Amino acid sequence: MKKPIRVAITGAAGNIGYSLVFPIAAGEMLGKDQPVILQLVELPMAVQAAHGVALELDDCAYPLLAGIEVADNAAAGFKDADVVMLVGAKPRGPGQTRADLIRENGPIFTGQGDAIDANAAEDVKVIVVGNPCNTNALIAASRARRTNKANYTAMTRLDQNRATGQLAKKLGLVPSAVKDVFIWGNHSDTMVPDVSRGYILQNGEKAPVASAFDAGWLAGDFDKTVRTRGKAIIDARGKSSAASAAQAAIDHIHDWYLGTGDASVVSMAIPSDGSYGIPEGLVYSFPCRITAPWKYEIVQGLEIAPATQSRMDGSTQELLSEREAVKDLL
Ligand code: NAD
Ligand code: LMR
Repeated sequence: MKKPIRVAITGAAGNIGYSLVFPIAAGEMLGKDQPVILQLVELPMAVQAAHGVALELDDCAYPLLAGIEVADNAAAGFKDADVVMLVGAKPRGPGQTRADLIRENGPIFTGQGDAIDANAAEDVKVIVVGNPCNTNALIAASRARRTNKANYTAMTRLDQNRATGQLAKKLGLVPSAVKDVFIWGNHSDTMVPDVSRGYILQNGEKAPVASAFDAGWLAGDFDKTVRTRGKAIIDARGKSSAASAAQAAIDHIHDWYLGTGDASVVSMAIPSDGSYGIPEGLVYSFPCRITAPWKYEIVQGLEIAPATQSRMDGSTQELLSEREAVKDLL
């Protein structure tokens, strides 16, 4: 039997947490032959509910679930973790932007960043889901001394999945027919869905996205739907996305570890290394390729249309202002 991978999840009793832990225990994130130990982390006031989640996990008798630990603090919760999924944070309500959460949620990620650096495995891989996720990941990464800053990532996979889903639906195809669509920038309305490398795969034939859709729809309704989908869900459900967010977090870690299959690109918000002129250190969504388990690299050399470049710059400016708003936490 393979050595179990330890996965710590904050906010494990919350909306996303409850949709996340069961598929992970079932092997959907790290593979159907990979045992996992779940480390469920909650606030003291919600830890009883996390114990309840643990009872249900027991009752599923998942063949790959090698252990469940519940903690009411980050230091214990992140002990020896190989993967840390930072979900626990306040969601926005109607009328709020994700950036409105920054002063309330940002401070969570200083303590959790410190706790990861002090307690998790040295090569820990981190995904931040709690909003505003790019800047929260920047805060957590800023605490990394022993661990690798490049492994502190944020989730824009939900936005990629939304884009893929919209394109497939428009053509009446299954989403697996849509490949290589990705997201630049911030997980906010300034994000830039990019279909320039995207294609539709049908009966072995590839057609570029640009040739399969009306340009006006791509630049208009499609783009807006993807950028504002989080708000549409909050307006419709009264709560922010949960199952789709959990699926995207699973997809993010799955692909980082096990690769992207027949897709050649995946969206990950990662600390910029200066590629495409994005200021170093900003946590920005790039088109990435997975070169080996737990190794990503930014896809280089893409030609950027002037309109795309100007929107990418807008997302950079927004991230710079978010960084300014939390400079005391960095
Ligand atoms: P929720 O309120 O249902 O659950 C959050 C849980 O986190 C609660 O159980 C709470 O007790 C716990 N928590 C809060 N602070 C904590 C801390 N310091 N340590 C441990 N646990 C803590 O919220 P939710 O719907 O699960 O959403 C969680 C976050 O994810 C929100 O910030 C939301 O905006 C964000 N989100 C991001 C994306 C994305 O694409 N990046 C998508 C959906 C939601
Ligand atoms: C989403 O995109 O669904 C989440 O970031 C929740 C939100 O606030 O929009």
